Amino acid sequence: MTPNIIIDCDPGHDDAIAIMMAGQLTNILGITTVSGNAPLSLTTENALIMTELLNLDAEVHAGASRPLMVAPRHAEEAHGRSGLDGPDRPEISREVASNDAVGFIIETIRTNDDIWLVPVGPLTNIALAVRQAPDIVDRVAGVSIMGGSAGAGNVTATAEFNVWADPHAASIVFDAGFKKLLMAGLNLTHQFGIDEQLIADLRTLGNRASLFAADLFDFYLASHRKRTHGQRAPLHDPCAVLAVTHPELFEFQSRSVRVEIDGAHTRGMTVVDERGWGEEPLNCEVEYGVDRDQGMKILLQTLSAYS
Ligand code: BDR
Ligand code: CA
Repeated sequence: MTPNIIIDCDPGHDDAIAIMMAGQLTNILGITTVSGNAPLSLTTENALIMTELLNLDAEVHAGASRPLMVAPRHAEEAHGRSGLDGPDRPEISREVASNDAVGFIIETIRTNDDIWLVPVGPLTNIALAVRQAPDIVDRVAGVSIMGGSAGAGNVTATAEFNVWADPHAASIVFDAGFKKLLMAGLNLTHQFGIDEQLIADLRTLGNRASLFAADLFDFYLASHRKRTHGQRAPLHDPCAVLAVTHPELFEFQSRSVRVEIDGAHTRGMTVVDERGWGEEPLNCEVEYGVDRDQGMKILLQTLSAYS
C-alpha cells in the first residue's frame, strides 16, 4: 500500500530530491516548511518550486521561522544562499496554502489514519505540534527522521545539523513516545553518497526533474568536496523517505536515543545507547546499513517516471 506522508522540510538540495522521490513513491498529504538550511521564506519558496516543477498535487504550508530557544542558523556553505543554489531558479505561480504548518500537521493527523511524518529539517514544527496536541503521537503510523548520528557529527564533531539547529525541538520529538521512530543519521546517510556517475545517469534520463536534479547535484557535490575532501556527497534526506517505502534496504537496531541540549562540546548530539544493557526505553529504530546500489536504482527509476 502506498504510504500517506507529510514531509516536513527545509529545501535544501537533498530535501528537494526527497520530495522528488516521495512524489512517486508515496501519497504526499502536504509539505510543511521550516527554517533550516535557509531562512523560512526561502525554504518555503524552494518547496513551491519543487511542487510546481514536478506538477505535484500537494499543498505547501509554511511553519516555524525560528527554533524553539536557540538563534536561527543556516547552512549556506552546503546549500548556497538560496538553499537551492545551482540550477536556474524557475519563476513560480504557486502560493502557500497557509502559514500554519503546525495546525495543518495536527488537523491532518487527527482526520487521517496511518500517516507517516517524514521530517528532514530541524524538528521545530513537529515539536510544536506534539506540544499543542499530544494526542497525535498515538495516531501516526510512525515518524521517519533524517537527523542525528550514531557516530560523528557534521556541524560539530558530535552534532548533526537538523538536531543541532533546534536541539530542544529534537529532544521533545525523541522523547515523545512515538510507536515507531526511525532515525536516518549521518552514520547511515554517509553510506548513501552521490557521485559523477549518478549525475551522468540523470542527464541521460533527460527529463525536467532529472536535469534539475543533475544541476542540483553539480553544486552539492562541489560544495561537499570543497568542505570535506569526501569523494561522494551524502544524500541525507531521501533516506528518510526510503526507510518508509523500502525498509528492506536498511538494517535497523532498536536503541535508546536522547538529545544533548546544552553540553559544552556536545550540544545537539544524539546520544545513542549502544551498550545493549541500558535501562532507558528503546525509543528509536536506528539505521546502521543501507543497500546503496539498490537505493540509487530506485532514485533513478522514480526520477525517470517524471518524463
Ligand atoms: C541535514 O542537514 C541539511 O543540510 C540537509 O538538508 C540534511 O537534512 C544533514 O545534516
Ligand atoms: Ca534537510
